[in-house]
Amino acid sequence: MGGIRIVKIKDGTVIDHIRAGHALEVLKILGITGKEGNIVTIAMNITSSKIGSKDIVKIENRTLEESEVAKIALVAPDATINIIEASEVVKKTRVKLPDTIFDVVRCPNPRCITNKEREPIVAKYQVVSRFPVVLKCLYCWNLVEEEDIIEQLTGPS
Ligand code: CTP
Ligand code: ZN
Repeated sequence: MGGIRIVKIKDGTVIDHIRAGHALEVLKILGITGKEGNIVTIAMNITSSKIGSKDIVKIENRTLEESEVAKIALVAPDATINIIEASEVVKKTRVKLPDTIFDVVRCPNPRCITNKEREPIVAKYQVVSRFPVVLKCLYCWNLVEEEDIIEQLTGPS
């Protein structure tokens, strides 16, 4: 992989094989601003033998919630999550974009039943495309495009 470009960590999480240019979105999803105090290493657009170029995010002394991993899958569908303990990779998992997704994003159709204020129904989407990611609302059949998904996951909340 072109030699050691960024330093290895002792304990924490390495999110590897992030689609090039998407590292900052991953940080946003995780709510990492830098003010938390964890050491964070970010590499963007580095050469990867597997996917041409990629981003990497290394967060020391931090683990990820399942719900965070589910969101990362939407912006970085090929990412691997490596848990590092005592400088060793003790667990490696690939994020998974399931066929059906619940609740992670809002349906853009204001009249959709999932957006009703009184009796909201948990949103449910079918993944109709992965590259780019496109979701179809299973209640109103509206499409949620990748750009909108990324904006919802990373925009000001
Ligand atoms: N890593 C790290 N600190 C460690 C061990 C590993 O930051 N103490 C990082 C590596 O730099 C790499 C990722 O964790 O980005 C996965 O490590 P490893 O499985 O050893 O690398 P690869 O075999 O290249 O991983 P893959 O097969 O997933 O490409
Ligand atoms: Zn809908």
